[in-house]
Amino acid sequence: MKMLAGNWKMNTTPQEGLALLDALVNGLTPERIGEVHLVVAPPFTHLWASVQRLWDFPEISVAAQNCHEQASGAYTGEVSLPMLKDLDVDAVLLGHSERRQYFGETDRQIASKLRAALNAEISPILCVGETLEERKSGREWEVVQHQLQVALADVSADEAHNVVVAYEPVWAIGTGEVASPEQAQEMHARIRTWLRERFDADTASIMALLYGGSVKPDNAAALFGQKDINGGLIGGASLKADDFLALLDALRSA
Ligand code: PGA
Repeated sequence: MKMLAGNWKMNTTPQEGLALLDALVNGLTPERIGEVHLVVAPPFTHLWASVQRLWDFPEISVAAQNCHEQASGAYTGEVSLPMLKDLDVDAVLLGHSERRQYFGETDRQIASKLRAALNAEISPILCVGETLEERKSGREWEVVQHQLQVALADVSADEAHNVVVAYEPVWAIGTGEVASPEQAQEMHARIRTWLRERFDADTASIMALLYGGSVKPDNAAALFGQKDINGGLIGGASLKADDFLALLDALRSA
């Protein structure tokens, strides 16, 4: 499966977000979408309006950028999976490095959220990736493997079919410094092998593996052309409809 997901982060007001969605859908035709599964992840405040705006575009899913693991309760400021489900939200980003870095999310907490998302039938997009320091000390695979192990400890092969893994080296997120296609492919191949051993060959080949970190129209073709890269998780370039559409073109023809 090919997938292109736009993570808007804490950007756009609701009105600006809807204008961005309009610009996006205005540029889409069935031919242009092809076999690509598109996902947009606006802030919580725009989710309901986004779902409504995309009602006629079943090929575009709406994802939340985070969720709480409990269904309800005294958790001021949090948003639960049943709330997202009721809005017809299809997917949720989990374990983004900004959540890990700035909000102290741990692997265990991410595992609980992932479990709860699967229970709620909302597809998790699990983000993993090493910091620059971890890569410099040659520990990138150790770190990514640990993140996968904990997050997927309690997941069956059938359930894993609904999980997307996004490899996002922290040093490449929002920095303009992109992993080379070879570096990205090497990590994706390792993740794919690990998934094969953890689940089975079918599951590993069905699961979409996305690369994220400074993907732009001018570097996308080389990344998307790699064997184990099934698409991208896009931050900055998802905020410009033309750039996101250019990434769609690159992925479709990869
Ligand atoms: P970026 O962000 O494309 O702006 O580097 C990617 C992400 O954080 O998902």
